[in-house]
Amino acid sequence: MPANKQIILDSRPTGAAEPRNFKLIETSAAEPGPGQVLVRNLYLSLDPYMRGRMNDAKSYARPQELGVVMGGGTVGEVVASNNQRFKPGDKIVGMGGWQLYSLSDGGDIRVVDASRIPLQAFLGPVGMPGVTAWYGLNKIIAPKKGETIVVTAATGAVGGVVGQLAKIAGATAIGVAGGAEKCAYARDELGYDICVDHKSPNFVDQLNAALPKGVDGLFENVGGVPFETAAQRFNDFARVAICGLIASYDGGPTPTVDLRMMLTKRIKVEGFIVSDHLALWPTALAELAGHVAAGHIRYRETISEGLESAPEAFIGMLKGRNFGKQLVKLA
Ligand SMILES: NC(=O)c1ccc[n+]([C@@H]2O[C@H](COP(=O)([O-])OP(=O)(O)OC[C@H]3O[C@@H](n4cnc5c(N)ncnc54)[C@H](OP(=O)(O)O)[C@@H]3O)[C@@H](O)[C@H]2O)c1
Repeated sequence: MPANKQIILDSRPTGAAEPRNFKLIETSAAEPGPGQVLVRNLYLSLDPYMRGRMNDAKSYARPQELGVVMGGGTVGEVVASNNQRFKPGDKIVGMGGWQLYSLSDGGDIRVVDASRIPLQAFLGPVGMPGVTAWYGLNKIIAPKKGETIVVTAATGAVGGVVGQLAKIAGATAIGVAGGAEKCAYARDELGYDICVDHKSPNFVDQLNAALPKGVDGLFENVGGVPFETAAQRFNDFARVAICGLIASYDGGPTPTVDLRMMLTKRIKVEGFIVSDHLALWPTALAELAGHVAAGHIRYRETISEGLESAPEAFIGMLKGRNFGKQLVKLA
């Protein structure tokens, strides 16, 4: 069997995640048993939720176990199969984890058609982040034509899709992103009406100026000052989709909300986890695939090379160094 490389969780972070929390080990790929499929993973998805799982804390998902291969979404190719649903050469998306080869019983992988869409897009706009954007925007915010929707981490894997879906729905999309380059991309490529740089010293004034008609929907990926500023501008009956609070994943504070304002303005705030809504995934994925194939949804990737680069790339993503979907090219 071919040589395998894996990255395991070696220790839990006490504050920010560090390279020493991870350990690279070399093994050989396992022979597939009855019903099993051996997959050569081609791209690994790095996602903010992985930081939460590194803690030994009660959450919506079980913590990542110490000494076990880091979990994660992957796309790859079937190299050997004892499962009649899969044949060698099939392109699949699944949860192969931080390793070059993975075994599956077929339950957590599905074949995808990579002829119209690049394979790695099934980890981005036509994968979990895309469905997250679709669900939070359509099912929680439900934008109406002419409404103002604010999106934080506006150029990221999730946020980039949210902004474009909001524009397709006829809303005004206001993005918040880190730095002039990301903001230019948000406006020029993703079609945001305005993008405000949260690193600017005048951020609060600039965001207020970008919201003359207030805020009807907030798609929250970050927490912190952008949330608190947008909240001051909520219109009556504004809807807030709490998708993520990445600014606090390494231990920082989460924003507090003024409950009196929520009452008087009749605000709806809903946190959600995309994996709770699996029944809607096929509908969302079909819609997203159509938009991506037609060029109506554009996206950007930051790709680090080789499994060994995954810990640094992951830590960088938690600090906002990625620009678009963070991937690791494994082969
Ligand atoms: N609820 C769910 O089911 C679900 C599913 C998937 C993802 N999520 C959440 O959605 C959010 C976006 O995920 P993603 O995969 O699309 O990641 P991403 O946006 O591609 O990457 C993270 C981005 O967060 C931004 N950021 C802003 N302030 C930050 C801070 N203080 N520290 C670190 N980063 C900061 C950075 O962009 P700037 O440089 O532009 O600030 C960074 O590039 C995350 O909060 C994630 O946990 C939730």
